[in-house]
Amino acid sequence: MLKKALIMSAGLFAASVSAQADLFKPEDAVKYRQSLYQVMAAQAGVIGGMAKGEIDFDAAALHQRAINMSNAASLLGETYFPETRDVEASNMLAKGWEDTEGRMAKAKDFGAALKNLVQVSGEEGFDQAQAREAAGALFKTCKGCHDNYRKD
Ligand code: HEC
Repeated sequence: MLKKALIMSAGLFAASVSAQADLFKPEDAVKYRQSLYQVMAAQAGVIGGMAKGEIDFDAAALHQRAINMSNAASLLGETYFPETRDVEASNMLAKGWEDTEGRMAKAKDFGAALKNLVQVSGEEGFDQAQAREAAGALFKTCKGCHDNYRKD
């Protein structure tokens, strides 16, 4: 299970290789993308709540949430094909399309931080202090990308 999640998080935001435009209408792909981010945000809410002590800390549950996030994130790549650029509902800035390299670097930071959270939360003795550190580092990478590539 853990191994599988790690492999999937390594493939986060993979460049669009197959013809996703054949599978999804651009408008639907943006809805799909935004829904995945909502799934991720729901996991982040519980993870952050546990890390801060607002929700009872449960290492196994937090670990599962990290895996859930990883699974959702692994699907994002197929929603980012060029035809989605002009979809009005999308809140990605034009800069996100133009500076692919920069955006991929942010995605990589996120992937590494999430992989770390999945890993440490699965280890024996994982506690709230470790959760605060690993989750804090992860959430910084969400913001790091949004600040650059998403409309406010
Ligand atoms: C590499 C860039 C990147 C990373 C990392 C990233 N996001 Fe985003 N996020 C985006 C972009 C771009 C959008 C806008 C997508 C669109 O509307 O087409 C977005 C949109 C969202 C939305 C709004 C979805 C909606 O309903 O419109 C939420 C919520 C969100 N992200 C949460 C997160 C969380 C939580 C994390 C970290 C755990 C995260 N994101 C990490 C780039 C990123």
